[in-house]
Amino acid sequence: METKIIKIDKKQINKSMIQEAGDILKRGGLVAFPTETVYGLGADALSEEAAAKIYAAKGRPSDNPLIVHITNMGDLEKVAEKIPAEAVKVAGKYWPGPLTMIFHKKDIVPYGTTGGLDTVAVRMPSHEIAREVIDAGGGFIAAPSANTSGRPSPTTAQHVKEDMDGRIEMIVDGGPVEIGVESTILDMTVTPPMILRPGAVTEEMLTELIGAVAVDHTLITADSTEAPKAPGMKYRHYAPNAELVIIEGPASKVTEEINRLARARQKEGYKVGIIGTEETVSGYTSGDVKSIGTREDESTIAGRLYAVLREFDDDGVNYIYSESFATGGIGSAIMNRLLKAAGHHVINIQ
Ligand code: TXA
Ligand code: MG
Repeated sequence: METKIIKIDKKQINKSMIQEAGDILKRGGLVAFPTETVYGLGADALSEEAAAKIYAAKGRPSDNPLIVHITNMGDLEKVAEKIPAEAVKVAGKYWPGPLTMIFHKKDIVPYGTTGGLDTVAVRMPSHEIAREVIDAGGGFIAAPSANTSGRPSPTTAQHVKEDMDGRIEMIVDGGPVEIGVESTILDMTVTPPMILRPGAVTEEMLTELIGAVAVDHTLITADSTEAPKAPGMKYRHYAPNAELVIIEGPASKVTEEINRLARARQKEGYKVGIIGTEETVSGYTSGDVKSIGTREDESTIAGRLYAVLREFDDDGVNYIYSESFATGGIGSAIMNRLLKAAGHHVINIQ
């Protein structure tokens, strides 16, 4: 299949191009499009056959459920049941935006979309192009991140092309995304509501709005022996080809240790990548050193994380050594993804 790539300007959305994307979705085809978090791989969420195509294109395990994307509150009631008052409050503040909520599903949502579960994940994105594509495609669009299963999520249309060229009908190129890590997932079927995946809508923000919020504690701890509650979080994805190791401890010692590890691997003939920050990159003496952003503004780190992992794949490095990041705010999302990419391999040098 030939994948058509169309460029759409967020500030001047070309309606006939959107229509073309919508028609493909309505016919049960696959269209990748930008959202504010990462690029999504869209299909009609209410069609079992369309959802099945997503699993095939991504090589995704079929027990890993998809998120249903909508554009208005009226549509939430069509797919979800027993919507608690707290969810309406959270939606009022953070929808549209980088937040997904889990509810009991209505019959209209096929099990092929929910991975066999009786619950459904729903998100209302804020990205203008995403919203137009969803509406043009019928209003209920299942969209996982548009990477092949196991690779870092795509934050540019080029990343999508790398993974999906020839496997899907269309890629809508709306430029790089804003946030760079996937939406926060909040399970509203339990009391108190539980964060299953950290994202840009943080635990602090949710607690301030609705009080107690639980956090799936398997998410940012170093040992991952217990299975996370969101099926997708159990897979080692977001992963680069190289072996990634996180080094944790006081800043100056971390740099020293990474330099030591890098030199040792280089002596063995391996190619080494290093993930540093604006504040630290000048301290690294060898290897393929990349700044992932500045510690002064952690959203810059979230924005570059997946792109950096993909760049190291392109560079063909064998080992990546990364600094560790603070876990408050968006930091939890960064560390959660980094730990997963590292298969929870952390060296602590307190
Ligand atoms: O930001 C995002 O959420 C992006 C953009 C494209 O919207 N989408 C995304 O989808 O990250 P995906 O499929 O890559 O991740 C969805 C996660 C998986 O970990 C999945 O297991 C979990 O959501 N999930 C979906 N439905 C669920 C359910 N009913 N119960 C528990 N976890 C669920
Ligand atoms: Mg994903």
